[in-house]
Amino acid sequence: MKCELPCFLLRFHSTTVSPNYHGRTVNQILVARLVLYLTSLTITSAIKGRIDIPAETPLFFASKLVAEALSELSSGAPASTSALQRLRLAQTLLSSFEPYATTSHDWAGVYERGASSLKLDLHFCAGPYEGAWLGQFVGAICAMTVLEVGMRTGTTTLCIAENLPRDDQKAHVTTLELMEYLKGFVEPYFRAAGHGPERITVVTSKASDSLKLLPSSGSSSDSKTIPEKAKGPFDLIFIDADKGGYVEYYKLIIDGGLLAKTGTLLIDNTLCKGTAFAPGLLEVEPQINLVNAKAISEFNDMILKDDRVNVTLLPVRDDVMMVNWRN
Ligand SMILES: C[S@@+](CC[C@H](N)C(=O)[O-])C[C@H]1O[C@@H](n2cnc3c(N)ncnc32)[C@H](O)[C@@H]1O
Repeated sequence: MKCELPCFLLRFHSTTVSPNYHGRTVNQILVARLVLYLTSLTITSAIKGRIDIPAETPLFFASKLVAEALSELSSGAPASTSALQRLRLAQTLLSSFEPYATTSHDWAGVYERGASSLKLDLHFCAGPYEGAWLGQFVGAICAMTVLEVGMRTGTTTLCIAENLPRDDQKAHVTTLELMEYLKGFVEPYFRAAGHGPERITVVTSKASDSLKLLPSSGSSSDSKTIPEKAKGPFDLIFIDADKGGYVEYYKLIIDGGLLAKTGTLLIDNTLCKGTAFAPGLLEVEPQINLVNAKAISEFNDMILKDDRVNVTLLPVRDDVMMVNWRN
């Protein structure tokens, strides 16, 4: 229990991309997915001859190495050491690029003894790059009130809180989480980081229920248990919970007046590992969650038809979609 959040804190106070942080290696599945994603991007582009991708970042170099190895391997010639060397180098590049969650807490045990009804997979948190980006975004738009849907161990919650104005009583994060266990787990760390209940409110319930309690005019008795400063409208809303709920969360937020007129809504994982533009990935990569892929596809289709908002996809990690009210 001791290590997870302090590690996160350290990360976000350090650099955005810190190679081999903690000396841990990134999860191999993530690497494989990223390789597939980058490969499909490179190959699709090369085949269509539309984009000449410059190899200017570690990710693009990795993509280039994988594409070169694939082109050699698909020629039918026996695998050469140079193809293997390219794949190994690509893996080194990718595994050093974004080290991932710490593994010190016994999450399997939490699930087995029934303290959590969900298996809290280690890869449920945003990671250092996206967390740092989100924090910087909070500062860039001068957000004062933020709503997060999906807290897990509070990585992004802390990134947000750290970037709100320090001495302003109105600065506040409301974070929604299904698992009561996680509230008890994170709050001591939030306090230790200087963000007590006056700055962060954790609401535990199904997000679809909690969202109904957040309009400032809410008059039900449940709504009264939530402090007024934790209610909307919000300058920034970040959705990162169960993908099957995204359509409903979006409707509750947009139709329920939770997004301020000048506010920004960010929605995580809207490329769903690349399945949004390369559905064939699902056939070759069974570890991608089919239910999530379908839910994201349904969500993307819905939002494209909503002419009340402007939408941009930001290539941050598994993609963050940015939504603002149209003037
Ligand atoms: C991807 S994690 C959030 C990660 C967090 N934003 C971060 O990057 O550190 C998703 C969280 O949503 C929670 N969740 C899943 N279904 C939910 C629901 N119906 N209502 C509220 N929270 C839910 C899960 O328990 C999990 O902790």
